[in-house]
Amino acid sequence: MPVDNSRLKGFYKLSIPERRAMLAELAGLSEEQVQAWADAELDEDVADRMIENVIGTYSLPIGVATNFIIDNEHYLIPFVLEEPSVVAAASNMAKRCHAKGGFTSNNDEPVMIGQIQVVGCENPEDARGSIMAAKADLIDSCNEVDPILVKFGGGCRDVQARIIETESGPMVIVHILVDCRDAMGANAVNTMAETIAPKVEGITGGTVILRIISNLAVHRLARVSAVFTPAEMADKGDASQGSEVIDGILQAYHFAKADPFRATTHNKGIMNAISPIAIACGQDWRAVESGAHSFASHERTYGSLTHWEKDPDGNLVGSIELPMAVGLVGGAVRVHPAAQANVALLGISSANDLAKVMAAAGLAQNLGALRALATVGIQVGHMKLHVRNMAVTAGAEGGEVDIVAARIRAHGGRITQKAVEEELAKLRSE
Ligand code: MEV
Repeated sequence: MPVDNSRLKGFYKLSIPERRAMLAELAGLSEEQVQAWADAELDEDVADRMIENVIGTYSLPIGVATNFIIDNEHYLIPFVLEEPSVVAAASNMAKRCHAKGGFTSNNDEPVMIGQIQVVGCENPEDARGSIMAAKADLIDSCNEVDPILVKFGGGCRDVQARIIETESGPMVIVHILVDCRDAMGANAVNTMAETIAPKVEGITGGTVILRIISNLAVHRLARVSAVFTPAEMADKGDASQGSEVIDGILQAYHFAKADPFRATTHNKGIMNAISPIAIACGQDWRAVESGAHSFASHERTYGSLTHWEKDPDGNLVGSIELPMAVGLVGGAVRVHPAAQANVALLGISSANDLAKVMAAAGLAQNLGALRALATVGIQVGHMKLHVRNMAVTAGAEGGEVDIVAARIRAHGGRITQKAVEEELAKLRSE
């Protein structure tokens, strides 16, 4: 179950153990789950079974984004990443659509594509026709491979065939469309594709070469939308200032829509949320990344993964649509204790839930970047954290860190390490 309330006032002011204790209480986590966050390092035996030639492990911070209401439920969202300001921006933007009920999802069924490449067909058009005629039999053969998936309501749904022209001549490309339920699906799809390959050769008279999943998961799209009022988009609730902010955001969005150079950075900002959640939850984030960027240029010039517009009442309406190949069955989430704790914090039990959380966070993250870029710029946010780090470097301890950082920012001038050191010395002499 997601948490009762994702608005955690003053969470950032707590110590790390206090934050863990609060989340354990809110999300009903076990001691082992909380310990998995505290341990920081993955057990070497587990690591050694995950990949080859292991020499150690590598850790990054886990931060929690707050304020997310998705389909009327509250979510606390774990991010694993190195970049400052990202978690704060997502949490800040998530709060700004509460007046209109938060985020709403409308995801596709979890259907992945497996590709079977057939070369050397005497007549590719006839081969394609033969595949289509044998569709029911091919679907049955796929489903015999994975009775467990079928038992859980998944399985092969369709078979399609295309002819493509390549430098090696024409090829018949067979697609198997597999409902993977709560799995990401690579194993199920690849096994099915490999298993039916000989049958495909028999039907087409050609030779099968590749049998592999496609990460351009156009049948497994996550879609999330939200409405942000002008008052919520304002700095301090002033709707007319908020309307100006909205106009700036729309101009920033139209820039991304019209220019792939900008769209690439715009989408990188979206992935600033999506990839860290994928990592936090033990997902194959490269699959999600490649699917997202490929979808951004699917049947169009590379463009934005989000869409922004103004409704007749002047509210900002945002939506996101992208492939989301994620799963909770199999993969690293099965063996990685911190990933399990992160999934438990989310309180989700299906791949669909994870997909909608990731899409909602991507939409919020994009808004955070656009809002900052169209107003004060992004350096202000970055500097906030950076100044705190500079204070720590200067030797500030405990409460001194925030006092020194606040004073330095209040000066408004160029921020140098020397100025931070002087401010700390001044504070200590008071
Ligand atoms: C930085 O990590 C992400 C941004 O560049 C995204 C954007 O420009 O939209 C701020």
